Amino acid sequence: MEASAPSKGIFDSANLEAREHVVELLRKAYWMEIETVMSYISASVNLDGVRAQEVKESLREDVEEELGHARRFAERIKELYGVVPGSEDFAAEQSYLQPPEEQTDIVHVIRGVIKAETGAIEHYTRVIEETEGVDPVTQDMMIEILHDEQGHRRLFEGFLREYEVEGIA
Ligand SMILES: [Fe+2]
Ligand SMILES: [Fe+2]
Repeated sequence: MEASAPSKGIFDSANLEAREHVVELLRKAYWMEIETVMSYISASVNLDGVRAQEVKESLREDVEEELGHARRFAERIKELYGVVPGSEDFAAEQSYLQPPEEQTDIVHVIRGVIKAETGAIEHYTRVIEETEGVDPVTQDMMIEILHDEQGHRRLFEGFLREYEVEGIA
């Protein structure tokens, strides 16, 4: 009897469909990060006011972190024999993170950030579930990045709380 070849997991030709599905999930995650970078750059510059400084500083730091996430997703897409999409494939989804009418409207930005982070948390949780037993390397990376997004969300919930306590939000 012929011995079967050792498994290469997600790289097995029998797993082609699963691999393409993971690449699709990663492409969506990649665009979410890129859009977040755009939204956070603008918010971190646009906001006005003494109280905005903490939020702006935090967003400036997040821009670097989200860009790092986008890079990691791009690299994983490549490793899985996918192609990192070009800019023409981009479709904006963060309608809630457009600049507010008044650039002192910090609450608008805080709420928008919480919504963006929640969206990322939902998608990455889905990726973790769908890669279970299929692609442990992508799953591992996703768990780490999900942790970052949970931290971002928690921080901005804290910012929002301050405004809620004061009755501004
Ligand atoms: Fe991110
Ligand atoms: Fe984030």
